[in-house]
Amino acid sequence: MRTHSVAYLPGDGIGPEVCDVARRCVNAAGAAFGFNVRWDEQSVGGRAIDESGRALPPATLEACRSADAILLGAVGGPRWDDPTAAARPEDALLALRSELELFANLRPVTAHPALAAASPLRPEVRDGADILILRELTGGLYFGRPQGREEHDGVESVVDTLRYTRAEIERIVELAFELAEGRRGHLTSVDKANVLASSRLWREVVNEVAARHASVTVEHALVDSTAYLILTQPTHYDVIVTENLFGDILSDEAAAIAGSLGLMASASLGTRTTAKGRLGMYEPVHGSAPGIAGKGVANPLATVASAAMMLRLSLGEADAADDLESAVTAAIEDGPRTADLGGSDGTEAVAGFLLARIGAGLEVTA
Ligand SMILES: NC(=O)c1ccc[n+]([C@@H]2O[C@H](COP(=O)([O-])OP(=O)(O)OC[C@H]3O[C@@H](n4cnc5c(N)ncnc54)[C@H](O)[C@@H]3O)[C@@H](O)[C@H]2O)c1
Repeated sequence: MRTHSVAYLPGDGIGPEVCDVARRCVNAAGAAFGFNVRWDEQSVGGRAIDESGRALPPATLEACRSADAILLGAVGGPRWDDPTAAARPEDALLALRSELELFANLRPVTAHPALAAASPLRPEVRDGADILILRELTGGLYFGRPQGREEHDGVESVVDTLRYTRAEIERIVELAFELAEGRRGHLTSVDKANVLASSRLWREVVNEVAARHASVTVEHALVDSTAYLILTQPTHYDVIVTENLFGDILSDEAAAIAGSLGLMASASLGTRTTAKGRLGMYEPVHGSAPGIAGKGVANPLATVASAAMMLRLSLGEADAADDLESAVTAAIEDGPRTADLGGSDGTEAVAGFLLARIGAGLEVTA
């Protein structure tokens, strides 16, 4: 039987509750599709700070390095909010991104008709929208140096640095073309080339890589107009690729198309590839929701959808990924609803609904 190893980092708040549902769903898919997952549970974030004083203990990093994939819940909460503390839960996320070179953040945005009422967009605008946003994750303003405040001759100033190497741009753009080839073949590259030198190099690289992917239609778009068009014409987009800061903003904005941040899945892919896929870290977009932690009411769908991406992109289990995604879609359309979606059902009700469907189609056709 095929065996996969997954570093399991439930983290803080509702992280353990939603990760537990995703783990059971993946195990059920494994039983149906003939694979095993070895889950290596490790501390991260606030829990790790409490245990060892570090948000990302060396043992956790090592487990992530040697795994086929990482499943993460969420980190943080009021207990660890002191801005003067030596260690902060979010440090773990930035460290994992840079240590594992998780350079590409993927966020699918789908407009499920069943959630039309949850979206501020009119149904005729959002219906049919199905976008994959690809954000560069390890370069740009968030990592560029110098960064900080200084004072010279009584003048206070501050600097952030937007730096990209050609190679950093090329690897994310290449991945964007590959992903567009597997979808509808349309790629929008978002930049600010009328102002920024980094964007002009970005455009140049996109045009070079485009020559190797003739089946993909490419368009260049400015980030300011894209921020408007993504909400007024969301069905125009297939794959969007952009740099770190622009991607951070556009991907949260696009959650309005889906209707709820609580349903959004994400993958952060690294440079290391295996025969099964690419090392990746998978996590829901939402945070640790400390206000509802431990109450059994958290919505696990974003984490289960993230686990489906893990099966597809890192573990090479595309059939199981399809099955998990169908179960999530069925839950959105016809399943129990947690409070964030206007219902009053609990986490376990959603888990039971999903587990009853995973692998069910196989039994019928067998
Ligand atoms: N990647 C991460 O680990 C990550 C991301 C964002 C925020 N955080 C951290 O999480 C903590 C809380 O942050 P926040 O309140 O701004 O954002 P949040 O996403 O945790 O919560 C925002 C709102 O959505 C609700 N919510 C979120 N996920 C839900 C789910 N699965 N089911 C039902 N309701 C859900 C919460 O109850 C809350 O009302 C902070 O410490 C923050 O730093 C972590």
